[in-house]
Amino acid sequence: MATMVEIFDTTLRDGEQSPGASMDEHEKIQMALQLERLGVDILEAGFPIASKQEFEAVRRVAETIKTSRVAALARAVPGDIERAASALKPAKHPVLHTFIATSNIHLEHKLRMTHQEVLEAAEKAVRLAKSLIPRVEFSAEDATRSDWDYLVAIAKVAIAAGVDVINLPDTVGYTTPDEIREMFRYVIANTPGSERVVFSSHNHNDLGLAVANALAAIDGGARQVECTVNGIGERAGNTSLEEVVMAMRTRNDVYSFDCRIASREIVPASTLLSKLTGLSIPFNKPVVGRNAFAHESGIHQHGMIANAKTYEIMTPESVGRSRSDLVLGKHSGRAGLAKRSAELGYQLEENQLNKLYEKFIDLADRKKEVYDDDLRMLIVRQSNEDFEIYRLKEVDTFGNNPSKALVKLTKGDETLIDSATGDGPVHASCLAIDRISGLSGQLETFEIRATTPGKEALGEAYVTVKFGERSMKGKGASTSIIEAAVLAYLDAVNKYLALQETTESGISAPVM
Ligand code: KIV
Ligand code: ZN
Repeated sequence: MATMVEIFDTTLRDGEQSPGASMDEHEKIQMALQLERLGVDILEAGFPIASKQEFEAVRRVAETIKTSRVAALARAVPGDIERAASALKPAKHPVLHTFIATSNIHLEHKLRMTHQEVLEAAEKAVRLAKSLIPRVEFSAEDATRSDWDYLVAIAKVAIAAGVDVINLPDTVGYTTPDEIREMFRYVIANTPGSERVVFSSHNHNDLGLAVANALAAIDGGARQVECTVNGIGERAGNTSLEEVVMAMRTRNDVYSFDCRIASREIVPASTLLSKLTGLSIPFNKPVVGRNAFAHESGIHQHGMIANAKTYEIMTPESVGRSRSDLVLGKHSGRAGLAKRSAELGYQLEENQLNKLYEKFIDLADRKKEVYDDDLRMLIVRQSNEDFEIYRLKEVDTFGNNPSKALVKLTKGDETLIDSATGDGPVHASCLAIDRISGLSGQLETFEIRATTPGKEALGEAYVTVKFGERSMKGKGASTSIIEAAVLAYLDAVNKYLALQETTESGISAPVM
């Protein structure tokens, strides 16, 4: 029988630390629910000491998630640990994850601590964490560039302090498969009491070796793998969840281990993350890229017709992708819509389905064929409405450069209209929104993508807008590119206003 490996997902923590991937509380909850459907054993929700918003997001995820364990990160200092424990209070199965660096380079230049001081800090951190939360993970940051005997020494004190999981991260993506396998074997073999804890592997992808290193670490004795959806994360990212899981499953003749991931939820998780963050998935990304199952050349197509196994080592269905993603038309009923939404990973309640159905019919009227991506976007947009302050009623633009825009918004029962002139229709519309909202946003980034084929393709716009010192992300989708951009700008405005309603904390983001 295959040995089970636990999947520790850190999309919402390490993944979210990567540029452009930040998610607000509402987005984190949507993603957390999809990760739970995906069947991750542990879901790291964030780093509560970083800010009041981060604390609240972790607390809300902890409150919402029932089957996966929910982890929160803390440096090996009492303030961080107490804050993380407090955010985890509502969790059914909490995990407190504390860490300190162990490599000479980090001790000397970052921590300015001796080896003995780090050992003592690790022991105290685990003891405190264990007194607050029943399950504790300890990470020896930069383990793969640390002395192996020092790793043994720190594992020993962590075990004595009651730790449950010891993680040996490849923080800078420096190790190789043979080296990491040996490191795990060495630390496990030489640490008294190692059989009482789970060893975990957390790899970064700076040399493109993260997945290979994770698989080798398991071979060396790790029984937990830390990863992120789409491999997002600091710099070149983390071990990609979908790749490591499908490597285990597809090559189960080589790897004698498995995990509990529901692989059909992989593509829905990947797409949802991309929509929430605006980070696009490279077309050739293994498992989840648009071309991962596309067969272009005549020879390949011929082989596929004869037998799909000629050029496919796993089926698209096994990762939650249909061979055809044409789903519904305007004659599809409510039941068809509910069934397809569920297949895509969204379990809708009756009132959510009713609202979605109206929008679906409206889209199907304008666009004959409704694809999976269209449907996902409608669902995501619907969930964004929860904190909508201003809603777009109409936008009309005239001329090109300069352009004039007339924007009509609603706020509760009030209708607000204003116009502005700008360099192009999008700029003019944003200025008109500023005049209505009284804000002054600077468009920092603006990306537009067509997600579906055809003339009536749905356009998705992703923007980052700076209001004073604060940058907010916004997204919008429409069959009109201008409207998609305006919706994205308005989404950022609404998010900024929603944020202003919550008081900002004085805690600043710590240096990791
Ligand atoms: O890469 C790393 O070392 C980390 C730790 C905090 C686990 O993310
Ligand atoms: Zn990391």
